[in-house]
Amino acid sequence: MTTPATTAAPPASADAHDAVVLTRVSKLYGDVAAVDDLTLTVRRGEFLSLLGPSGCGKTTTLRMIAGFEHPDTGDILVDGRSVLGVPPHRRQVNTVFQAYALFPHMSVAENVAYGLEQKRTPKAEIRGQVAEALDMVQMRGYANRRPTQLSGGQQQRVALARALVNRPSVLLLDEPLGALDRQLREEMQVELKLLQSRLGISFVFVTHDQGEALSMSDRIAIMREGRVEQLGDADAIYSTPVSAYVAGFVGQQNFLDGRVADAGAVETDLGPVRSTRGAPVRPGERVRVAVRPELVRLSSSEPDGTSENRVRGTVIGVAHQGETRQFLVDAGRGHTLLVRVPTPAAPRLGVGDPAWCRWETDDVHLFPHDGEHSAPPPTSVPDGHAG
Ligand SMILES: Nc1ncnc2c1ncn2[C@@H]1O[C@H](COP(=O)(O)OP(=O)(O)OP(=O)(O)O)[C@@H](O)[C@H]1O
Ligand SMILES: [Mg+2]
Repeated sequence: MTTPATTAAPPASADAHDAVVLTRVSKLYGDVAAVDDLTLTVRRGEFLSLLGPSGCGKTTTLRMIAGFEHPDTGDILVDGRSVLGVPPHRRQVNTVFQAYALFPHMSVAENVAYGLEQKRTPKAEIRGQVAEALDMVQMRGYANRRPTQLSGGQQQRVALARALVNRPSVLLLDEPLGALDRQLREEMQVELKLLQSRLGISFVFVTHDQGEALSMSDRIAIMREGRVEQLGDADAIYSTPVSAYVAGFVGQQNFLDGRVADAGAVETDLGPVRSTRGAPVRPGERVRVAVRPELVRLSSSEPDGTSENRVRGTVIGVAHQGETRQFLVDAGRGHTLLVRVPTPAAPRLGVGDPAWCRWETDDVHLFPHDGEHSAPPPTSVPDGHAG
């Protein structure tokens, strides 16, 4: 283990500050609001992911924190001080990009040393710090190789070492694992998370991959059109989404649209649905109800109880997935429901069999209908064999 950097001692009160605070930050490109009145706090030492669809402003947000772009309005604090007008190399922030952009004509050690040389760090110090940074990413033995002599994962580690060698208080990572194949990507996820907790540096991690965000992050910011739609830990994002957009973006959902009836139940194409979760709604309002596939109960015979929260359909697909089994149920009127059941509890149902789907009022989320961004209905059973 290495000791923390002793250069540029922070003010005594620094620990009281959050690592990064963006307050009402906007960035316009022409008339496109890439970032739109965004407010976000990155806590000291946390692993925060920005998750959202292409074009929602993730990279622009990182570039403003790093200092490569300047906000039109709003303020950005790093370690408690405004960095507006502070050039990138004078911020306690470093960035790892998706295309790790190592200098091909330099050795691994020279690549890692580059930033220190720019800062005119004494030669003797550079050697020690480069060795230390390469140790952090388990690449010390590769110091003299060229980037072209390394695998993708090794290059990514060198890029990390290069970003960490300055001991930034915040590391920004823009889809750093996007170029790696799946196995390497999963290995690097574990390594990155371990490194982050060991170093205690705040990571702001941009990803398209919700699984990656859920498994690695202390908190996740779900972005939509230049703003943060929800910020919370994986459990909050998954279990208590604030909107249909978040509900559909993270994990899988069955969505049904309907209208709130006088009695409080929602009239949908597939019959009445009752919910105790989600936004308060008024009779007559158009709403979207959401039920996770793992919260739907599936049976071959009609369940007891009331007529609410149940749908009769026909099994049109079954996928065996080891611990779980997935069923696709054609519920009529163009609706297909996805149901996921632990394998030992899975009913003996095959394609063509009639089936009943049922769910608890506590497991149904109600959202005001926002007319867009709904997830498409499931149309096939992924990764499995129908039959
Ligand atoms: N330099 C630029 N000039 C003009 N428009 C830009 C520029 N950079 C970004 N934009 C626009 O701003 C919006 C946000 O872009 P940004 O790169 O931040 O998205 P992103 O969330 O990182 O997307 P992706 O997941 O595809 O990387 C997009 O509509 C994009 O086209
Ligand atoms: Mg981007």
